[in-house]
Amino acid sequence: MTTEQRYTKEHVTHIKHWANNKLFSITTTRSPEFTFKPGQFTRLGLPENAGDEPSIWRGFSMVNAVDAPHLEFYAVVVPDGQFSPRLAQLNVGDTIYIDKSPIGFLTLDNFPNGGKSLWLLATGTGLSAYLSILQDPKTWQLFDNIILCHGVRFVDELSYQELIHSWQQTWGKRFVYLPLPTREAYQDLPQQRLTTLIEQDQLANLAGINLDPQNSCVMLCGNPDMLAEARKLLGDRGFATGRRGNIGNLAVEKYW
Ligand SMILES: Cc1cc2nc3c(=O)[nH]c(=O)nc-3n(C[C@H](O)[C@H](O)[C@H](O)COP(=O)(O)OP(=O)(O)OC[C@H]3O[C@@H](n4cnc5c(N)ncnc54)[C@H](O)[C@@H]3O)c2cc1C
Ligand SMILES: NC(=O)c1ccc[n+]([C@@H]2O[C@H](COP(=O)([O-])OP(=O)(O)OC[C@H]3O[C@@H](n4cnc5c(N)ncnc54)[C@H](OP(=O)(O)O)[C@@H]3O)[C@@H](O)[C@H]2O)c1
Repeated sequence: MTTEQRYTKEHVTHIKHWANNKLFSITTTRSPEFTFKPGQFTRLGLPENAGDEPSIWRGFSMVNAVDAPHLEFYAVVVPDGQFSPRLAQLNVGDTIYIDKSPIGFLTLDNFPNGGKSLWLLATGTGLSAYLSILQDPKTWQLFDNIILCHGVRFVDELSYQELIHSWQQTWGKRFVYLPLPTREAYQDLPQQRLTTLIEQDQLANLAGINLDPQNSCVMLCGNPDMLAEARKLLGDRGFATGRRGNIGNLAVEKYW
């Protein structure tokens, strides 16, 4: 296979820097052949110098709906990172390379029968994958209720409020949003990590919906330490990923 076949050359069409200038969303042109399942990610590539072939690649979840004409990615600037500070400095019209083969298992394929409730638990930019999943009408057909829990350090890291509010308008009580800043008080919500809330059985109370393995499916995305801890806590409560043909009620995606 030649390198030309592995990726397409695209262009930045929009960059939004969120309030704290540490987080940004980047929108690009989309090859008509690029297809993916909500929750999947692809690799973005940048060249060392403008005009060169890409030399550095990183994985990013698609934020946009599967049928959107563009691709959108939500990212954090890791101060000493090799890739994210460069990605944040791109301008409209700049070239970006996009791997043609999206991958990842944080998709609704894990839960073909759906259920009463779908819990989407994210820290930081782990939110990205869920934004695409929540824009898919199939998600709302499979589950009665959806609970989006977003753990961030500070209040101004609660991005995509407009989109999230639009789902509150559309879906009413079927959609519960729990924004959870840990280093600053916010509304009357507890200033606690997601894992602490699971451990103390508070998450279900906050949402007003049971978090039980019979009726709930859970997705975890973001910080690997959060994933490991949440996985253990949920495992003790009877949640498990699918294996050997058995359908599970837990799906996980690590970001680093
Ligand atoms: C499956 C997958 C999907 C991903 N999707 C996204 C996404 O949608 N948005 C996104 O911003 N990143 C995402 N990432 C992370 C991304 O690929 C890069 O690692 C990130 O952009 C930092 O790259 P870097 O070269 O600047 O630093 P790196 O050298 O890659 O990372 C340095 C350190 O930065 C921290 N770090 C890396 N990524 C993050 C992050 N997202 N949030 C907080 N701390 C981080 C970790 O401590 C890591 O060890 C994803 C990674 C994977 C594996
Ligand atoms: N300067 C530093 O000391 C330092 C340290 C780590 C990362 N960084 C950099 O700063 C950025 C941080 O990104 P970020 O804030 O989006 O990600 P993050 O550090 O993963 O924090 C996002 C949210 O996840 C929570 N969290 C972290 N570990 C957890 C765990 N084990 N269990 C449950 N929840 C957990 C955090 O809670 P808490 O607020 O309680 O942590 C916070 O609410 C990255 O660029 C990273 O490289 C800097």
